Amino acid sequence: MYRSVNGFQMAYSAGGAGQPLLFVHGYPLNRQIWTPQLDNLADSGYIIAPDLRGHGESDPVPGPYSMDLLADDLNALLDRLEVRKKVILCGLSMGGYVALAFWRKYASRLKALILTATRAAPDSPEARVARDQAAATVRQSGIEPIVAGMLPRLLAPETLQNNPALVEQIGAIMRSTSSAGVLGDLAGMRDRPDSRPDLKNIELPTLILHGQEDQIVPVQEAQEMFAALPNSRLRLIPHAGHLPNLEQPARFNAAIREFVTNFNL
Ligand code: MLT
Repeated sequence: MYRSVNGFQMAYSAGGAGQPLLFVHGYPLNRQIWTPQLDNLADSGYIIAPDLRGHGESDPVPGPYSMDLLADDLNALLDRLEVRKKVILCGLSMGGYVALAFWRKYASRLKALILTATRAAPDSPEARVARDQAAATVRQSGIEPIVAGMLPRLLAPETLQNNPALVEQIGAIMRSTSSAGVLGDLAGMRDRPDSRPDLKNIELPTLILHGQEDQIVPVQEAQEMFAALPNSRLRLIPHAGHLPNLEQPARFNAAIREFVTNFNL
């Protein structure tokens, strides 16, 4: 399905009814990563999973994609879908950076946050240089070198070893991302603000879900967010790396169900 938002066609999947749950993918991925959630959580609410601009089936509009801009797209999509209820916003990795930007701009639309495989800190100077190097690589050689470098680090070692179908599926998702999307993300992530000072002001119920073997965002960063967020709980997911929703979907979905039930969300 598509909706026209902010001058481009945004693709999304949706299912279920009731409490809206908005799932936002990371870099350089798309909404297909939320298939186990779309398939299994539709009895918990109205699940909406968009492709961010430049990803999946959304238009490959040129960047840079600031986290604020991506948050604006989500806000516009909610408008177009006439979502009036407050939303539970689940963001994975870059999607978590977008979730924090969304909170800064549109907190009144939020009921709760689920921050998964993400961090509040900005890029270090070294990470900023690495973003520019990655962008130069993409301009010169396309996304393949990014896939080759990132795929082995995205997943827990045992997922890599035992689940070749998932490894292949994630590689295909990454390869389908447009160059505009990859470059737009890299610039937006490089320049994103430090969200750490905001955490003490986020009073929303917040669930932090993090793979115990995440090699992209170390567990320590999730623990730091947990310590700083006044109304948060932390769930570490064993046998999972940076994509716990795909590597351990049953545990991931159970944690979301429990959160939604315990908080009467
Ligand atoms: C992501 O998974 O969205 C990115 O790896 C996050 C990042 O590079 O900071």
